[in-house]
Amino acid sequence: MEKREHFSSRLGFILISAGCAIGLGNVWRFPYITGKYGGAAFVLIYLVFLVILGLPIMVMEFSVGRASQKSAARSFHVLEPSGTKWHITGYLAIAGNYLLMMFYTTVGGWMLYYVYKMICGEFVGTTPEEVGGIFNSMLGDPAAMTLWMLITVLICFGICSLGLQKGVERITKVMMSFLLIILIILCIRSVTLDGAGEGIRFYLIPDFGKILENGLGEVIFAAMGQAFFTLSLGIGAMAIFGSYISKEHRLLGESMNICLLDTLIALMAGLVIFPACFAFGVDPGEGPGLVFVTLPNIFNQMVGGQIFGTLFFIFMSFAAMSTIIAVFENILSFSMDLWGWERKKAVLINGILIIVLSMPCVLGFNVLSGITPLGAGSTIQDLEDFIVSNNLLPIGSLLYLLFCTSKRGWGWKNFIKEADAGKGPKFPQWSRFYVSCILPLIILFILVMGYWQKFFA
Ligand code: ALA
Repeated sequence: MEKREHFSSRLGFILISAGCAIGLGNVWRFPYITGKYGGAAFVLIYLVFLVILGLPIMVMEFSVGRASQKSAARSFHVLEPSGTKWHITGYLAIAGNYLLMMFYTTVGGWMLYYVYKMICGEFVGTTPEEVGGIFNSMLGDPAAMTLWMLITVLICFGICSLGLQKGVERITKVMMSFLLIILIILCIRSVTLDGAGEGIRFYLIPDFGKILENGLGEVIFAAMGQAFFTLSLGIGAMAIFGSYISKEHRLLGESMNICLLDTLIALMAGLVIFPACFAFGVDPGEGPGLVFVTLPNIFNQMVGGQIFGTLFFIFMSFAAMSTIIAVFENILSFSMDLWGWERKKAVLINGILIIVLSMPCVLGFNVLSGITPLGAGSTIQDLEDFIVSNNLLPIGSLLYLLFCTSKRGWGWKNFIKEADAGKGPKFPQWSRFYVSCILPLIILFILVMGYWQKFFA
């Protein structure tokens, strides 16, 4: 049997897993929902969920990946007690990775398109209405959207085709380093703008009154959902990277590093966006259009705005692409693990498949805009996002959790033995009751609330 590829360094593993986590969830979703739910108080609740919910599940995914030395497509087959059906979770995970990419590649394309527009100076001297018009005309143009989605897919699969170490690891490392440098430059620019102080206060000083205004239940639900989405949990997207590492380090410590990096980037992205919004009198509760409609206006009013705007969208593109590359690596490893395909063959076939599968999302904004699957004004992208974020991520996480804690699954003992192999902090034994009995209930609550909000609220 062919030997499984491994990362060349621990840093590579941490940066790629962080790259998988760091994505649109951090730089696009986090700032706008923080704006919507009132700033710092929401951030605090979110951080709590990251620790009590995200962290343990990440350790479980890595453990399953490392113990089985397989991607989610095969890992349950390897570890499940004979005669059980846990491997069905693997099929859900496969579906989750494809579905995530079906809308993510489109938004990744928007980011690259905006880099191009910024470089060309398309926003220079435009009014706020015109900036909004540019975004809407992009959505209405299927050819442009297809082209930029295609460019995104080709770049990311191109990188994966070079191999795990030479492609995915080497390029993601460079991209993540640049991402951090650009983010630091943007943060310094934003917090030193005249009038930035009010934005910093909004973002960093909790005001629990704002939470009550929105309704505590809704805010808690949003914070939990964000914790899942930002860490890409429940679809085995992280588990694969566990299968590429040795048993040198305990998995709690590795997961903590990744969660910390993910949180740092999300918090810093907010530190770029909110002070700038307040300095230029823009509403931070704008919603999903925040980065595409609101921010170009801000860059327009800023000295050197074209340069900062270009840097900003390069930063966004890197964040999106680091996730796409990581998920593509998963998708490739499914075919390699299931059918023993060569990497090049897997790239070619999956590349075509992903392009075709991304088209409904692209066309859902224009040619197929008559299809409103989740009610008036909704798009195909909303449906795909709903299936992934509100269903596959929590259901998959629940199954990983039960698999690692239940006697009828892989079981607590095996899980702890794997998670605690190596050096570093141990997974706390005292948390067993919480992880086995309380955490599943929390996840069930998220699922039910998600449905309630979507269809009845
Ligand atoms: N974790 C990925 C993100 O935050 C999906 O965008």
